[in-house]
Amino acid sequence: MRRFGLAVCMSVAAVALSAGTARADKLTYYCSAQEDWCQLMARSFEEATGIDVNMTRKSSGETFAQVKAEASNPKGDVWWGGTGDPHLQAAEEGLTMEYMSPMRDQLHPWAISQAESANNRTIGIYSGALGYGYNTDLIAANNLPEPGCWKDLLKPEYKGHVQMANPNSSGTAYTTLASMVQLFGEDDGFEFMKSLHANINQYTKSGSAPIKAAGRGENTIGIVFMHDAVKQAVSGFPVKVVAPCEGTGYEIGSMSIIAGARNLESAKKFYDWALTPEAQNLALQVNAFQVPSNVNARTSDKAPDMSTIKLIDYDFAKYGSSDERKRLLKKWDDEVSTLPQ
Ligand code: G6P
Repeated sequence: MRRFGLAVCMSVAAVALSAGTARADKLTYYCSAQEDWCQLMARSFEEATGIDVNMTRKSSGETFAQVKAEASNPKGDVWWGGTGDPHLQAAEEGLTMEYMSPMRDQLHPWAISQAESANNRTIGIYSGALGYGYNTDLIAANNLPEPGCWKDLLKPEYKGHVQMANPNSSGTAYTTLASMVQLFGEDDGFEFMKSLHANINQYTKSGSAPIKAAGRGENTIGIVFMHDAVKQAVSGFPVKVVAPCEGTGYEIGSMSIIAGARNLESAKKFYDWALTPEAQNLALQVNAFQVPSNVNARTSDKAPDMSTIKLIDYDFAKYGSSDERKRLLKKWDDEVSTLPQ
């Protein structure tokens, strides 16, 4: 009888264990795109797979720093969204792992070249051009001219009217810094950032915050990705979107699996799912107007038309390399952020 009881107990324990394993399917998901899109991706993946998702939204540079700090004891499984440069740096530093998704043959060449330059430790999920937007009511109320070029933003009358994020935390702001260096050359690019500093009212943590503030009437001009400015305009705020006359840089928003992911199978499922047209079309529900990387996904007709914007040949391999990103950020910290305003 005792032995029978023991056997029953053991089999009950085994069933409980296997049920526990089934229930334990989960995913720790770091997201660096806009909050509402991050949430929608998390909930939709849960619905599609039954896998429990624990999502944290942080800016691209912040997520990079977190993944690096956790490297000896990784807590995240997959990092989706945010500009490509910190994803490339993470790949180079071995913080993310190689993965060849069966979805690759449905992607635009720019998404694949992002993967290839990182030994397939990251991949492109969307792209978008950098620019700025401004609140037309505030421009009029302050009798300011309507800007159309990068260099317009240096005019003294815009003092206190321009906002951008801090390039250490924000991928958007790092893209701005790297774009100015590529557009004007390193010396003139840094001169531009220094003169711009005199007009900046605040460096925010998140890249899109300056245009959200402009939408609310708390800031006049926000340097952001153009699609983030379009989102404000489409939401009914008095925001005009600018593709700067000199030309501009762009991002390849990226996705990577974190090296040592505890829930590797869930991470791979998320990765493959996130590259499907169905998952990429979710962007349209939250007014995310980036260009999706799957050729069969839909691009909104409100999305900035990349073919009409003067784009620089952004050197992702160089500006996403560990040495270059560290060097430019240190130089900005030392030579720009410390200047009096
Ligand atoms: C916004 C944009 C994304 C971009 C992200 C970077 O969410 O819509 O296209 O990748 O900003 O965020 P960050 O806060 O790092 O600048």
